[in-house]
Amino acid sequence: MANVLVCGGAGYIGSHMVEMLADSQHEPVVLDNLVAGSTRAVPGNVPFVRADISDADIVGETLEKFDIDVVMHFAAYLAVGESVERPLKYYLNNVASTLILLDTMRVHGVRNFVFSSSAAVYGTPEVVPIPEIAPLAPINPYGRTKFMVEQALRDCRRGWGLKSTALRYFNAAGASESGKIGEDHDPETHLIPLVLQVALGQREKIMIFGDDYDTRDGSCVRDYVHVTDLAVAHKRALERLLEGHEGGAYNLGTGSGITVKEIVETCRKVTGHDIPAEIAPRREGDPPALVADSALAAEELDWKPERSDVHHIINTAWNWHKEHPHGYPG
Ligand code: UFG
Repeated sequence: MANVLVCGGAGYIGSHMVEMLADSQHEPVVLDNLVAGSTRAVPGNVPFVRADISDADIVGETLEKFDIDVVMHFAAYLAVGESVERPLKYYLNNVASTLILLDTMRVHGVRNFVFSSSAAVYGTPEVVPIPEIAPLAPINPYGRTKFMVEQALRDCRRGWGLKSTALRYFNAAGASESGKIGEDHDPETHLIPLVLQVALGQREKIMIFGDDYDTRDGSCVRDYVHVTDLAVAHKRALERLLEGHEGGAYNLGTGSGITVKEIVETCRKVTGHDIPAEIAPRREGDPPALVADSALAAEELDWKPERSDVHHIINTAWNWHKEHPHGYPG
């Protein structure tokens, strides 16, 4: 049993983590500044602290009050395009505030950390599926923020014994099977929720960014992994750290890529709606294909995605969006 502080636990992936922890032998506590998250995503019986991760006083008090064993850190900005326009917003929150959070952990003797990293640390990969030993060469500020924190984690391991696991997500998607929580970003930039907004009549059409890539149908290939599968991987990572494992960095994906056009087609099948699509120019900074080699996570975390069939991902996302067409209220 562990007491787990979930930073960003009112957000998309964090709330799925909290739902799973609340249903396990572990005790989650949520800390979130509610800039992007919603208290509606947090179960009523889970302690909630409204604070920024950079508020060392409140974070420190929370670590002590709940006798926290492990910190899971989901509290980050995530829009690649925005990170190009407003790099300092990303460096300040995703890096500087994260370093303050780590320092607060150091001061209060909390030595276990699970970090949300990203496939964006690889930039445009030379080899697909991508193994963890591929060069880390991020091509935008967002990816660089994840890369920098990963470097800091290694230094903290050497310097003061922090044990940490960085989980490099590929494309997080889908929603809880409970139907209570799901993806609610404002503005939304991710493919599947945007396609489902077309199905709901909230958008006229989906723009397919580029159909002249060197892929099977010309559109970009991504590796979509169900958000609940991501939560399972975090739980395994947490338990490994508690068993004394020193941590590491792991890719989380399925190993099979799906094109943008295939996603749109599957959404048509699942929803029964037409979903008009139009080919648009390539989006700057999009690698043609990002697919994970997750063999290391299979071996060391005993993790295999079990809910990441694309139909299941889109079905759960559709259930969420149908029931919550405007996301969380308020
Ligand atoms: N796409 C469209 N039309 C849209 C939106 C997206 O064609 O309206 C395409 C994109 O060009 C891309 C694919 O759909 O090829 C997926 O795009 P998303 O924006 O959903 O996701 P990304 O692959 O760009 O980004 C994801 C995570 C990021 C992470 C990145 C790693 O959301 O946080 O993977 O590169 F950084």
